[in-house]
Amino acid sequence: MILNKVYLESFGCQMNAFDSEVLESLLEEDGFSITQDPSDANAIIVITCSVRENAERRAIGRLNDLSRHKGAILAVCGCMAQRLGEKLFDLVPALEIVAGPDSYSMLPSTISKAIAGEDRKILVETDSSVTYRLRKVTGSSPSRYLSITRGCENYCSYCIVPFVRGSVRSKEAGAVIEDLRILAASGAKEITLLGQNVMAYQSGDCGFVELLYRILEETDIYRIRFLTTHPRDVNEGIFKLMAENGRICPHIHLPFQSGSDRILSAMNRGYTRSEYLDIISMARELRPDIAFTTDIIVGFPGENDADFEETLDIVEKVRFDSAFTFKYSPREGTRAAELDNHVPAEVKKSRLEALNNTIQSIRKEIMTECIGSIEEILLDARVKKGENHFLKGRTPHFRNVLLGTDNGNPGDIFSVVLKELRNFTFIGEEITGR
Ligand code: SAH
Ligand code: SF4
Ligand code: F3S
Repeated sequence: MILNKVYLESFGCQMNAFDSEVLESLLEEDGFSITQDPSDANAIIVITCSVRENAERRAIGRLNDLSRHKGAILAVCGCMAQRLGEKLFDLVPALEIVAGPDSYSMLPSTISKAIAGEDRKILVETDSSVTYRLRKVTGSSPSRYLSITRGCENYCSYCIVPFVRGSVRSKEAGAVIEDLRILAASGAKEITLLGQNVMAYQSGDCGFVELLYRILEETDIYRIRFLTTHPRDVNEGIFKLMAENGRICPHIHLPFQSGSDRILSAMNRGYTRSEYLDIISMARELRPDIAFTTDIIVGFPGENDADFEETLDIVEKVRFDSAFTFKYSPREGTRAAELDNHVPAEVKKSRLEALNNTIQSIRKEIMTECIGSIEEILLDARVKKGENHFLKGRTPHFRNVLLGTDNGNPGDIFSVVLKELRNFTFIGEEITGR
């Protein structure tokens, strides 16, 4: 029997990276094999993002580029597939299949039919019961993702995600534990639990913190991380757990988006700057060394210099390890896109530059203070830079470390001393290992 081969590419957030593992497992179960070479594939799948205009522009460019592999069925999945649906057939003439995030179970059979000559197909029905179980996993990295909630109903006024990812649903707690065991059996030592708002997890009586207790008790996953948390859902329980159990990594990604109460309210974020700062203080009281990262938007409609100064002020007060920073991008159908007072492109650009400079200089200070300390790292990859071989790992605080040796393997846990800093990566030296 000839196996059909599929080539997959994923853009956007970690949810798509996880969905890519789901799709691979569904396809392999259906008799497909995965190839790393698009020219060798019978089908090409691109998993896309819609969060900003340039994410969509890039995805369409890439799809048109991949159209040159004429022998392969071209399919688009993910958030842009859900948002644009049929319109994508005009934007990418070679496209055969459009499939939104709730329809991946149908994708293998749809691809088989397309290979057999069936017409173009569009699958964008939403289904709020879909959570996707892992059955046959394809990955082997020690550091993996598992999505435990899908969807979002927060409707931040700038954001397209609720329109493309549908309503919130949580994977049943027993199913989370089983999926974690499957990942552990394939070599996972560190898991990042995923959701648009992971702390909104609720399955029967089991909320997010209860789920973490169950994971700690019922699995032997060595390190547990989670992404993303909305300030509105955060509670003391999570920081208490971080303080008492070393397997819950002392890092939290807590997007604040803007430091101005006026803008936060127009964004429909549901908290004020002082409430945000209170969460930071509470967290530091319970776990003083906790590392914070965040997302920030500049140039939301109506944002003036004083609002922007308040954003800089939060950055200076909290001292984030790092931050993802974005220029506001209007998304059709969202409330903010209808607002007046859009900020000119050059103002967004200069605010973004100023913000990034502040973030980088604080980041450098934080990292410089870490030099000389001893950290435990979980090795996750081998890297080659020029002629030199390194092993790469992360500290519990999610800081990158390179070791100038290839005497070790991904999945190993080493104690290292942080010797120096190169481009925001530590160079470490092993003090014990294996
Ligand atoms: N669920 C996550 C965020 C998902 S989107 C949360 O609420 O934190 C990731 C980030 O993209 C957001 O945190 C926001 O900073 C940014 N983003 C979302 N929509 C955007 C838009 N229209 N323009 C610019 N940045 C946007
Ligand atoms: Fe978007 Fe807000 Fe939902 Fe995050 S919480 S995905 S920013 S609507
Ligand atoms: Fe993008 Fe969809 Fe994630 S819009 S950020 S890939 S949920």
